[in-house]
Amino acid sequence: MTIAHISDLHLNFEGKHTHYDKVERLLGEVTSLEPDHLVISGDISEDGRLEDFNFLRELLIKFNYLDSALTTIIIGNHDIYGTALSIEDALSYPDRCKGTDYEFNLRRFHSFIEELMVDTYRISENDIYPFIKQVGSMFILALNSIEEFSTRNFTASNGIIKKDQKLKADQLLKQVVSPGSPLMLTIHHHFYKIKRQKDTFAGHILTKIENNTMKLRKKKKLLTVLEKWGVSHILHGHFHDQKIYEIGNIVMSNSGGSIKNGQTTTAKYNLLEFTDEGNFITTHTVNVESCSIYN
Ligand SMILES: [Fe+2]
Repeated sequence: MTIAHISDLHLNFEGKHTHYDKVERLLGEVTSLEPDHLVISGDISEDGRLEDFNFLRELLIKFNYLDSALTTIIIGNHDIYGTALSIEDALSYPDRCKGTDYEFNLRRFHSFIEELMVDTYRISENDIYPFIKQVGSMFILALNSIEEFSTRNFTASNGIIKKDQKLKADQLLKQVVSPGSPLMLTIHHHFYKIKRQKDTFAGHILTKIENNTMKLRKKKKLLTVLEKWGVSHILHGHFHDQKIYEIGNIVMSNSGGSIKNGQTTTAKYNLLEFTDEGNFITTHTVNVESCSIYN
């Protein structure tokens, strides 16, 4: 079985860089491989705009991937809270986050891809997260890690999995997944500390800011629970880096560098292959040189 993983598309209808061409090329390339399943782990949009959600929906229709058996998509912080698009915006952004209706935006996001929730296991129809999907013999657990705005999360970009969601996931897993079945998790936030070059003042400050505003709180505790549940792979994004790494017994795929990877001419995806000979996970680069850099 093969699972393609992309993340952080940051479609930006209003922006100088819409990423529309780049995302279309990446999705076209990935779906032409006919993976058994495609996972997109959040931040579909840069600013939570309906035009961007609709663009992705149309692309999924175009490539025949608007199908729950083929695709799983989860939400990212930008899909709920948007972003500060300019320096002036940055000053008013915390107030904008404060006034954001989290629950409304969560449901609005999923209304664009409601076909992807068909045949998912959930606590109730009203609870979007957590959900579990079965793909072949593999189970995919999806958690919503987007922490609500507060004074300690004033950029609305930190993450947390609260006790309530953990209890619901535990209950669902007991109902749906028999012990020993292959289980992977998709979640938006990453599990490592960001390390940049700290030999410049800017690098030092940026690392400090990023580690304080982009962190998944209580990740060690969460990892202990995930290991207890038998999660073998975690597919995430959030930090814009393409990276495969391991923590304990869990293999991690970060596809946060799919689109925003610092290069205008490349898009990236990770491919997970589960075969009789073993499990393999690899990063692939798609040349998108002919895309307009503004698209
Ligand atoms: Fe992102």
